[in-house]
Amino acid sequence: MNAVINKESFGCLTDGTQVNLYTLTNKQGMCAKITNFGGIIVALHVPDKNGKLDDVVLGFDSVTPYETDSPYFGALIGRFGNRIADACFELDGKTYALEQNDNSNCLHGGHKGFDKVVWDANVREMDGAQALVLNYLSPDGEGGFPGNLDITVVYWLTDDNELITSYRATTDQATPVNLTQHSYFNLAGSGDVLAHELHINAEQYLPVNETLIPFGLKESVQYSAFDFRTAKAIGRDIERDNDQLQVVGGGYDHNFIIDKKASKSFELAATVVEPQSGRVLEVFTTEPGVQLYSGNFLDGTLEGKGGQRYTKHGAFCLEPQHFPDSPNQNQFPSTILRPDDAYQSRMSFRFSIQK
Ligand code: BGC
Repeated sequence: MNAVINKESFGCLTDGTQVNLYTLTNKQGMCAKITNFGGIIVALHVPDKNGKLDDVVLGFDSVTPYETDSPYFGALIGRFGNRIADACFELDGKTYALEQNDNSNCLHGGHKGFDKVVWDANVREMDGAQALVLNYLSPDGEGGFPGNLDITVVYWLTDDNELITSYRATTDQATPVNLTQHSYFNLAGSGDVLAHELHINAEQYLPVNETLIPFGLKESVQYSAFDFRTAKAIGRDIERDNDQLQVVGGGYDHNFIIDKKASKSFELAATVVEPQSGRVLEVFTTEPGVQLYSGNFLDGTLEGKGGQRYTKHGAFCLEPQHFPDSPNQNQFPSTILRPDDAYQSRMSFRFSIQK
């Protein structure tokens, strides 16, 4: 038997709803702890080159701060990951107003995105392993979005230390959909991530304006701080005198356009190596883009797991997704899901040891 899943209580939300914590453990001892509140990956214990397990994601010890203080630590993101400019878009001749929760923009679905709802959770047998199956029905009008959206997210852990996430959604009215996973990684388990070596399979990225909305033009990464085509330390160019690094709070918070062989194929987007521990993370996805966020807004005020203070660049996120503001930018691949179609996406975090 591959990964097994153990269920325990993760306490109660402020409205009294009880939520659970599911622990997926594989033969190598790697484990993922996931709650059905927001589908949040609370902990991910991964072996280093000596077999020592460390928790490589940021988060909290209890559910309460996830409700009130979390910058989306480990959460499932929707209905629309990333930003929609001025929290507004037009679809089939009608204008929809969303919630402005990031300056005038709508970020990660609005005030109560999929990261703050309770998902139905079931454990199922899949490909010889136990999988955690999460379901959520997002009602028509939630956060201003049209259509009842029925979403299923499946998490499963293989014996090869790969945590796979698959997404499926259907709707009864046309609606934008852009789902992702918002884990904050630190492959050393603590400290900052500036010495982590990052490779991104992208020749182009999307420069943004002062509210982090892409201008719409793809820019070559060549000769810039955004060139991760050959692996380099995240911190190597992060202090460079570059408007794009400054405009997002000092660091990276940009979407990279993955160089893909075919548009919806499952391919490697990025690889991160932490030289001391030897841990390697590879991110695979069917999505066209990946947001690199270098934890620019972490400022030490949050008290995380075990009393840790998470400071600037204390983690990185690699969030596979469609391009930000797609509902307003026709040149980007469409994010509109229609009733006769199904949204499908798959991503994985594959861990190994540096050779
Ligand atoms: C965004 C950042 C934001 C972070 C946490 C990322 O996906 O790109 O701008 O600060 O999420 O909200």
